Amino acid sequence: MYLNKEQEEMLKGKYGWITAKALELIVKVGEIVGAEELVPVKHVHVSGVSYINIGKYGLEYIVDFYKKGGRTRVYTTINPSCIDYSGFSSVIDNSNVDSQLEIDNALIKMGFKPVFTCIPYYYRPPSPGEHLAWGESSAVIYANSIYGARTNREGGPLTLAASITGYIYKSGLHLPVNRIARIRVKPLSETLNLPIGALGLWIGDNVKKIPYITGLKNMNTSSLKILLSSMAASGSHALAILDNVTPRNAYSVELEDHVEVEKRDLEDYLGDPVSRSDSILGYIGCPHVHPEELMEIARLLKRYNCRCRDRNKLLITVPFEYPVKYGVVINELKARGVDIAAGTCPVVSRLRSKFDVIVTNSGKSVFYLKKIHGVKVRLASTREIVEYVCRTHS
Ligand code: F3S
Repeated sequence: MYLNKEQEEMLKGKYGWITAKALELIVKVGEIVGAEELVPVKHVHVSGVSYINIGKYGLEYIVDFYKKGGRTRVYTTINPSCIDYSGFSSVIDNSNVDSQLEIDNALIKMGFKPVFTCIPYYYRPPSPGEHLAWGESSAVIYANSIYGARTNREGGPLTLAASITGYIYKSGLHLPVNRIARIRVKPLSETLNLPIGALGLWIGDNVKKIPYITGLKNMNTSSLKILLSSMAASGSHALAILDNVTPRNAYSVELEDHVEVEKRDLEDYLGDPVSRSDSILGYIGCPHVHPEELMEIARLLKRYNCRCRDRNKLLITVPFEYPVKYGVVINELKARGVDIAAGTCPVVSRLRSKFDVIVTNSGKSVFYLKKIHGVKVRLASTREIVEYVCRTHS
């Protein structure tokens, strides 16, 4: 692999032993995947920071990285962890707080921004064509498909290494030759009143090339996040071309195939049935909600005069800072019995309470929560979730 003068010196230890080791890792992986050079990155997003997911050995790896002198050279954000930092949530189990804070302290001392969210683009929207090294599949596919940025799906150790060196290997989606849509996917209009997560799960499961998706209507930030994150969960997608959405210079199209998606194709992805006797956890916030979504949920609850009743709860997961930054709307939601958890989500944490079924608008959550928590899961629109938790749904 070609290395420039700075990279050669870094490898020889000019910037410290741990930086040399980090670059060594990036070069090694780059050589395995056939990269010819490295590329500087503007923003790193580190995933794999939840103590529940990475355990004692992951904790030691991160703390060791810090103790050996690891310090960030580029803007770096952090994915959700396993604890609710607001302390409000009665749903998220905070019993691993000490171990999680050990991880957090090491990351913060290395210079990472403690946003604890999977929507890093909310803090720093990438520019078209910009090279990134992001972990977190939902954020990666959003950066590539909506902003036209360039990142592969990186794992935790590689994102740490990219942060302290400022480089990643140049292959995969960093190269235009790998950003070519090969199959046109057209959901028929009959599918468009089903929750958008079902379409994402279907595409992830059934389409193995970069899709060129046409025929979508009224897509807002929330539906784009849910569509793409669901696709990245059930498949290995890191880029989808959305007609009239993806920046034109971020891809090319060489169609070899096309597929139409029918309503009956999606029905298998809606999850389990919900019975009237079930205790329900409504869940919104996978990926974490944007401020507009938070306001929209508050408006919806007000319109329905909804209060979470009986054994039901509505959980909303948000970035670390929202409870302070959006205190008015958060307090309004809490007054209606809504459970807010900041800096975490049910996929990377343990739940304190047991529910018969989780009803969510997120295909990614449907994909993971059943396996992780052993509960029934149901995909629904945001409005239906509100109806379920307020017991107005038949
Ligand atoms: Fe984010 Fe957790 Fe979903 S990290 S994308 S809310 S699984």
